[in-house]
Amino acid sequence: MTRSNKWNMDAAVVEYRTFHNCDPPEILKLWHAGNLGPSAAEGFPCDILELFVFGQPFFDRNGLFVATSDDRVIGFVHAAFAPTNDGTGLDRQRGTISALLVHPQFRRQGIGRELMRLAEGYLAERGAVSVCLGAGLDGNAFYNGIYGGLQASGFANGIAPWQNFADALGYTPDIKTRILHRDLTSGRDPVSSRLIRHRRRLNLSITDRVSDLPWWWHARFGHLDALLFQLQERHDERVVAQGQILGLDVYIPKWGVRAVGLREVVVPEEHRRHGYGLSLVLEICRRLREQSIQLIEAQVDAENPGACELFTSAGFEQVQELVSFRKTLSA
Ligand SMILES: CC(C)(COP(=O)(O)OP(=O)(O)OC[C@H]1O[C@@H](n2cnc3c(N)ncnc32)[C@H](O)[C@@H]1OP(=O)(O)O)[C@@H](O)C(=O)NCCC(=O)NCCS
Repeated sequence: MTRSNKWNMDAAVVEYRTFHNCDPPEILKLWHAGNLGPSAAEGFPCDILELFVFGQPFFDRNGLFVATSDDRVIGFVHAAFAPTNDGTGLDRQRGTISALLVHPQFRRQGIGRELMRLAEGYLAERGAVSVCLGAGLDGNAFYNGIYGGLQASGFANGIAPWQNFADALGYTPDIKTRILHRDLTSGRDPVSSRLIRHRRRLNLSITDRVSDLPWWWHARFGHLDALLFQLQERHDERVVAQGQILGLDVYIPKWGVRAVGLREVVVPEEHRRHGYGLSLVLEICRRLREQSIQLIEAQVDAENPGACELFTSAGFEQVQELVSFRKTLSA
């Protein structure tokens, strides 16, 4: 067995420590060896990890623990915090496990469990009263754009034994997020007299104006290309629906297509149930097709039937589910 290919498992001594500045290349190797499934970007260089994770101004090296064997990183866990309700800072009472990965050759040896013990200790010391394994929809400050597709809203169900692992560590199921895709190169947009009327009456405006978004948005997506789409009444420019798109360019080597993510589709309360949301989504799909974008992704909370229904009507199909689990930390 050569050192460059495999480890001698019998002789493996596993050590644990916090992140060192020299770790990113090893973590990148582990990422690519981890069989993380279709929701994880691959084939990207170390700069991307620096930009999306370690270079974030609020990244705390004391919250990232690595497991090493023979000087190689064979596992890591990344503990962090969820945002405050107004999205202006971090809520130290709500801990998150933003990432957790053990090398396939080292699984079922208690390494994941030990990494979690260290992560929970770090969070508890800083005031966390609960921990969300997977961080949940809108709760992860890191890995957006490289894990989960549009955003890192949990861990991919079926790719790892998350349910068993969570049960063993005393976590209960929390948010489930559906990942929905629409292939823009095939299929036809639905047609109806209402949609035709909307097209006659409404304009689509597109801007890169993102200045009125909270800190939490910039923390997660500031490094991605973003555009705001607004559907407006022609006569008085009233906005009846809006949504943002984010470029998912880091996925090109993995998915082999140009893709964007669509998020925060919002119809003001007084304009709901008129089909404006569907008109907006279809209009965005049309514009993206003209720009040779081949795939569009959306994520919805599985408990939000209205949003699921909207995207299904627009031709999206579920391709994956991201799961999160929660635990209350004892005092
Ligand atoms: C989930 C994961 C972290 C578990 O790591 P691990 O080191 O194998 O876990 P442990 O050995 O500490 O297991 C702890 C407990 O979880 C449960 N468990 C773990 N793997 C299991 C499996 N394959 N089947 C059933 N139960 C399992 C068991 O109860 C186990 O306790 P036991 O061995 O005493 O029975 C690992 O499978 C992994 O890295 N998967 C890919 C991670 C990923 O996709 N990350 C994406 C975001 S970065």
